[in-house]
Amino acid sequence: MRPPVYLDHAATTPVAPEVLAAMLPYFSAQFGNPSSIHRWGQQAEHAMYAARQQLAAGLNCSPDEIFFTGGGSESDNLALRGAALAAQAAGRGRHLITTAVEHHAVLHTAQQLRDHFDFDLTLLAVDAHACVSAQQLADAIRPDTVLVSLMLANNEVGSLQPVAELAAVARAHGVLFHTDAVQAASQLELDVQALGVDLLSLGAHKFYGPKGVGALYVRRGTQMLAVQTGGSQEHGLRAGTQNVPLIAGMAAALQLVLQRRAPGKPHLGQLRGRLVAGVPQPGPERRASRPPPQRPPNHASFVFREVDGNALLMRLDLEGVAASSGSACKTGDPRPSSVLLAMGAQPDWARGSLRLSVGRATTAADVDYAVQTVERCVAALRK
Ligand SMILES: Cc1ncc(COP(=O)(O)O)c(C=O)c1O
Repeated sequence: MRPPVYLDHAATTPVAPEVLAAMLPYFSAQFGNPSSIHRWGQQAEHAMYAARQQLAAGLNCSPDEIFFTGGGSESDNLALRGAALAAQAAGRGRHLITTAVEHHAVLHTAQQLRDHFDFDLTLLAVDAHACVSAQQLADAIRPDTVLVSLMLANNEVGSLQPVAELAAVARAHGVLFHTDAVQAASQLELDVQALGVDLLSLGAHKFYGPKGVGALYVRRGTQMLAVQTGGSQEHGLRAGTQNVPLIAGMAAALQLVLQRRAPGKPHLGQLRGRLVAGVPQPGPERRASRPPPQRPPNHASFVFREVDGNALLMRLDLEGVAASSGSACKTGDPRPSSVLLAMGAQPDWARGSLRLSVGRATTAADVDYAVQTVERCVAALRK
């Protein structure tokens, strides 16, 4: 029997061997607490210093603008809550702007700020590609707007927001701009100066790093309130002894992304093209989920009318294809995808979403097998 095919790299990626090697010393011989004065502490502190330098070089910022966190969700939480509550405390305003197609780490945080912390929240309408325009953003900004959060690459459908353009609008109005770049990091160049953002979230496990570690870029001078209080780690913004092995792993993973980006791109893009060409024949029952003009090269998403996306995933798994219905966090939820609904899809389509995401180890044969298997499973579910 054929070995199973993993086409869910947007949910998570395997830890690269080089990343594992970079982490191992900090689990054993070099186990020190980076806040300790002695040599064990200094070794750990040095590892974090090097990791901060590497991340800063990757994002084109300064090391003191990098804050280590416990993953992409925590970075988003810290960005939104930290910036919003600091602005509120300083009396600068209490209006936030985002969209309904953000990852729940952003959307639910913004909704909590609205429901429990007295913020006003505007959810910008998105177009059929899950994107918003600069004009829409300009029209929504009010004198009391303090933060805009718009994601770089959508985790469900892969759309790329024109973040540089949108961030420029926010900046022109003196409003902070956060982008969730968790899905983008494995594929796209992330230059915070070119993007013009004030806050940017990363999560290592999407780019062949370990789970449970991430980073938040915070532009120097941005007022932030600590969300997790305690010790003075991470310049007092995120208390708690840092997870040195995972931080070293994240930095090694980002280095690999930067080294491999150029040769990796056409390979993944070709595989994605093969998937998109193979799966959805245009027709009333199935289609690529309105492929946006630009998307990460590893990501393909489809919708099948009147097919239960969760049933499809289970069947695919039994047949040896690992996929997801858009967001790993929402798998098992029988409701239609809120992202697809926001993009204008009817509920009978929005229940049948499928996300296939290729990775470094994916082959053309894997893709061909997945295409045939999707066809077979969709046909079987329709019967
Ligand atoms: C766009 C986006 N933001 C945030 C997250 C959450 O990241 P983490 O799993 O590291 O908490 C994810 C994970 O799926 C994501 O795709």
